[in-house]
Amino acid sequence: MVVALMAASTLALPSAPYPRSVTNTTTSASTTVTAVPAATNTGLSLTAQLFLADTAVDRFALLPENSDFVFDFGNPALKNKGGKGGDLIAANRKTFPALVGTGAGMAVGFLGPCGFNTPHVHPRSVELQIVTQGRLKTEMLPENGVFNNNNAADGRRLISNTINAFQMQPFYQGSVHTQFNPDCTNATFVASFTSEDFGTGQVADELFAMTSDVVSAAFGEAIDGADVAKFKSAIPTSIAEGVEQCLMTCGITKR
Ligand SMILES: *[C@@H]1O[C@H](CO)[C@@H](O)[C@H](O)[C@H]1NC(C)=O
Ligand SMILES: *[C@@H]1O[C@H](CO)[C@@H](O)[C@H](O)[C@H]1NC(C)=O
Repeated sequence: MVVALMAASTLALPSAPYPRSVTNTTTSASTTVTAVPAATNTGLSLTAQLFLADTAVDRFALLPENSDFVFDFGNPALKNKGGKGGDLIAANRKTFPALVGTGAGMAVGFLGPCGFNTPHVHPRSVELQIVTQGRLKTEMLPENGVFNNNNAADGRRLISNTINAFQMQPFYQGSVHTQFNPDCTNATFVASFTSEDFGTGQVADELFAMTSDVVSAAFGEAIDGADVAKFKSAIPTSIAEGVEQCLMTCGITKR
């Protein structure tokens, strides 16, 4: 009975969303109770257990397989989540527990023709992004007080670039930035982060999640409160099919 309960609670743990070979809990629980690693009975995720390990050395016991140290950005199961213009696959300490203690994370973006990674911020990290296939048009707005010609009258400084294959750009922590694939072929990028929990906020989605009065006021009443819901429902998922001119050139009709 105890064994059965433990098997049930072990199996109820959230399974890691990346392809790691976990301890075969069926085998462990049905042979002997002590074969189940003590920590798996705590109800804590592997990431939480790694966090709580007394030392870095102790973490290795929680990652017994060599494959626990491999993250597969090419795994088809991780795709088709980003939106209709492509995929963005993030390795953070939750999706890839082996990152606990490293202070580092990574993401790989697959942008289809005209794919558009909508304006966003990373609250806890700079991003170093290298284009590995195709090219990307990028835009970054750093923060208040950064002006063209260092002159407020000349307006905010928008840093825009075309990043070709094997070129890199930093996107500073907290900056609003966006990338889109201007071509009718696929583009991919690799992004490294100085945080194992870099996080992302899509700015349009966040702004329009505020109450309609606030959104309307934030736009200087240019958007009527009653229209806020309409705008909100039109905001694309994180990777959208982008920019009008590209869609026309590539003959992509908006779905
Ligand atoms: C776990 O072990 C059981 C019993 O040996 C076996 O039937 C099952 O296929 C194994 N599961 C995995 C995922 O290897
Ligand atoms: C572009 O990416 C999509 C989605 O990953 C893939 O199905 C397709 O084969 C790629 N096209 C080319 C020409 O590589």
